[in-house]
Amino acid sequence: MGDVKRVLLIVSGGIAAYKCLELIRLLRGREISVRCVLTEGGAQFVTPLSLAALSGDKVYQDLFSLTDENEMGHIELSRDADLLLVAPATANLLAKMRAGLADDLASTALLATDKPVLAAPAMNVRMWEHPATRENIRDLKSRGIGFIGPVEGEMACGEFGLGRMAEPEAIAQAVAKTLESAGAPGGRLAGKRAVVTSGPTHEAIDPVRYLANHSSGRQGHAIARALAAEGADTVLISGPTQLPDPAGVLVRHVASALQMLEACEAELPADIVVCAAAVADWRVQDQPRQKLKKNGKAAVIQLIENPDILATLSKPSTSRPRLVVGFAAETQNIIDHAIGKRDAKGCDWIIANDVSPESGTFGGDTNTVHLIDEAGVEDWPTLTKDEVGRRLAERIALHLGGQGR
Ligand code: CTP
Repeated sequence: MGDVKRVLLIVSGGIAAYKCLELIRLLRGREISVRCVLTEGGAQFVTPLSLAALSGDKVYQDLFSLTDENEMGHIELSRDADLLLVAPATANLLAKMRAGLADDLASTALLATDKPVLAAPAMNVRMWEHPATRENIRDLKSRGIGFIGPVEGEMACGEFGLGRMAEPEAIAQAVAKTLESAGAPGGRLAGKRAVVTSGPTHEAIDPVRYLANHSSGRQGHAIARALAAEGADTVLISGPTQLPDPAGVLVRHVASALQMLEACEAELPADIVVCAAAVADWRVQDQPRQKLKKNGKAAVIQLIENPDILATLSKPSTSRPRLVVGFAAETQNIIDHAIGKRDAKGCDWIIANDVSPESGTFGGDTNTVHLIDEAGVEDWPTLTKDEVGRRLAERIALHLGGQGR
């Protein structure tokens, strides 16, 4: 039984609470044990008896219950789990989570935890779109809380839109994936801090236009997820992408190269830096404050070079990260150019990859890379970007002397 993962399921007060019963069944079917905390609101929609019957465990409801505190205090309740899942997560509970309120057992367990937290919001579309909820979600995401849904559909209140809780199967899948990659305290990179850049940067031309590139951010996000799975305390500095924030990783969202550099520097010191972002090489000099107007003539935009983030972080100093890894996006003479880039930028390793349109790397699922370090060139087979991330995290763990789980 030692390897069975444990989820603390917090059921708050929404009509979607009935879907939790199916969710518990699906989680247990995946060999994940479930213990439930039911809020006062949640108990209006689902009974403790049905949760207890399906989870096969006691259901906890009261912060100040003497018997509960004796058996399992609220701190132990959250510490004993490998992951906390809030489903359904009401607008109210999300607001409490953001504010750090602890006025019932559910919010107290959420404040006391040091484990990954996933939330499956469910609410009326207007509540979901309200600026207060938007800000709460943005803030919770930036603290590393993972979100599943909501999805679009018909709601119990008769309206249609975004706000329905994700289906139990999707939630169960997300839980299983997060448990697989959760920053395990026993991971080989436990105690190490990693900073990863990912995605493109957007360089404003004027207040409404920008310069960008085709990077999807998939490789950088996969690396951040894999480093967290090895136990590293991981911060992902992400340019604008369409990707969800990986659970268990703290994500800082930026737009331009200058912002990305500033965000990276603010996260130092770190043991590991991986620069996977496709940083724009130039930005517009003297950016106009107003929208540029056509005047029948050719438009001239003066570009100046952006700072090189990888080279800046690789500079020798007492606070230089122990391992700095860069990428070399090339379309020809891949290895030669990448070796030159490693020398020029002063990083320890460089991952060379072919980004010519024929390779399908930009935006695709796979990547064919070569790892270049001082010892030479290692050719990796074509792998999915997730696998490249895992293999790189493993290499990093071995290099930094990880002991294995
Ligand atoms: N990089 C960076 N900051 C920049 C430009 C690049 O941190 N301003 C990093 C990338 O994240 C990557 C590495 O440098 O890890 C190489 O990026 P790449 O685009 O391949 O090379 P460039 O330095 O931009 O050179 P060129 O475009 O001339 O090939």
